[in-house]
Amino acid sequence: MLTDYLPIYRIRLRTDRLELRLPDLDDLVALADQAAGGIHRPDFMPFIEPWTEAEPAMRGRATVMWQMKTLAGSTPEDWALPFVVVRDGQVIGMQEVSARKVKVSKEAITGSWLGLPHHGQGFGTEMRAAVLAFIFEGLGADYALSASFDGNGPSEGVSRKLGYKADGVNHIVTGDLRRLDRRWRLSREDWEAHRRHEVRIEGLDEDARAMLGLA
Ligand SMILES: CC(C)(COP(=O)(O)OP(=O)(O)OC[C@H]1O[C@@H](n2cnc3c(N)ncnc32)[C@H](O)[C@@H]1OP(=O)(O)O)[C@@H](O)C(=O)NCCC(=O)NCCS
Repeated sequence: MLTDYLPIYRIRLRTDRLELRLPDLDDLVALADQAAGGIHRPDFMPFIEPWTEAEPAMRGRATVMWQMKTLAGSTPEDWALPFVVVRDGQVIGMQEVSARKVKVSKEAITGSWLGLPHHGQGFGTEMRAAVLAFIFEGLGADYALSASFDGNGPSEGVSRKLGYKADGVNHIVTGDLRRLDRRWRLSREDWEAHRRHEVRIEGLDEDARAMLGLA
């Protein structure tokens, strides 16, 4: 069985409306379909790498390749979990968590996107809440980090609602543009003060923890 070799595939994060899990191949195809259908308005690029400028089939391909590469490149010291977000059996987007030497750093980073038809219904908040429970309760971390380009109202809205505080800025050059990237930091204390979603964490057993450098 896959989980005999990759125990992190046992991990499930469940909220009222959503399930987050590592994707099998069918999930990857469904996620690629979401990417092909569109992730954001054409006039605002939310990603550092403008991969969503490609035509739909190439966006789908990039999605599959990215998810595979992310997981295949993970080690206990430096890993990323590219969860798919499932609602009523349908993959609607992805929510990644990554960390380096998390046992010592006690910090983890998140990034996410949803297919356009699923925006603005609270799913972005709910899926972030799911990985925050994973980070603080599951991994025992002290901080969760995020970042969003200036002007990304929904992403910033999710971070603010869940209690993140501004944590400085970076300037990122994409093409001929200098863009302002806002960093966000959530402490355990602020997370507890802003918790609104019930989250169930399943499958984070000793073997899965060892794969995440927590043995
Ligand atoms: C970011 C993303 C995942 C958020 O998901 P979502 O389901 O649309 O977000 P939610 O509905 O849970 O919450 C968004 C919040 O931001 C608020 N918001 C939206 N636009 C805003 C703006 N311009 N200014 C301030 N707040 C804004 C909303 O009102 C909402 O808060 P509310 O529930 O209190 O009303 C989704 O928009 C997405 O996939 N965007 C494209 C990819 C992307 O930007 N990824 C993040 C890269 S950093």
